[in-house]
Amino acid sequence: MANPYLTPTLPAALPDDPMHWADAWLRHATAEAVRRNPNAMTLATVDADGRPSSRVVLCKQFVANPGYIVFFTNYNSRKVSELRSDPRVSLCFHWDSLGRQIRVDGLAVLSPAEESDAYFASRHWGSQLGAWGSDQSAPIESRDVLLRQIRDRGRELGIGVSDDLQSLVEPSERALPRPPHWGGVRVWPDSVELWLEGEDRVHDRAVWTRTLDRQDDRSFRAGRWTGTRIQP
Ligand SMILES: Cc1cc2nc3c(=O)[nH]c(=O)nc-3n(C[C@H](O)[C@H](O)[C@H](O)COP(=O)(O)O)c2cc1C
Repeated sequence: MANPYLTPTLPAALPDDPMHWADAWLRHATAEAVRRNPNAMTLATVDADGRPSSRVVLCKQFVANPGYIVFFTNYNSRKVSELRSDPRVSLCFHWDSLGRQIRVDGLAVLSPAEESDAYFASRHWGSQLGAWGSDQSAPIESRDVLLRQIRDRGRELGIGVSDDLQSLVEPSERALPRPPHWGGVRVWPDSVELWLEGEDRVHDRAVWTRTLDRQDDRSFRAGRWTGTRIQP
């Protein structure tokens, strides 16, 4: 049976909830491996003066209901220091070969510790070591100093690695604990736009908005989505 979410245009009567559509598009792009890192999304944040900056991160969880998107990163990085001072962020997925774009605006909160622990534990030791070894966004004198810093921090944690960091010297199997400065960020959308490429640039677009009422420092009570078709 054809996937009902993969139509060339959005239905005439817009769906009630864009998150299931967005989730289906992401799953499709991932299943089809349309490119390397099909879960890559551009994340835009603003600093305390309102100056925007953007970078690519990987979407590691897409939770359609109640509706949030998770990526993992260093909590001392520029992006997290910006979203701590202003939680309003923007995400953009784009799959050129599928002619689809998803834009998300919303509010960022840090993930619960259990979510960060579970994901960190699932990572390869090399990525775990990298999370300990790099003070993301901070300056460093040289690449050599960086590699030495990663090796030294690994040794302090009981992981011996080869000089090129490619293999464990000893012990042969070792999982590291999650660094306190590393974990997930949940983006709760209050606006989602689905965009489908059309012929002669007559694309199909619709935007859905909802209210978010803060429950506590990690979650929101979300209102119902309202969808509007917009011109290309
Ligand atoms: C394909 C791709 C995927 C990336 N995924 C992540 C990610 O999931 N988390 C992350 O912290 N950085 C990721 N990065 C690196 C970021 O783009 C960025 O360089 C880094 O997070 C530092 O950003 P900041 O200094 O603005 O905080 C990725 C980069 C690329 C090109």
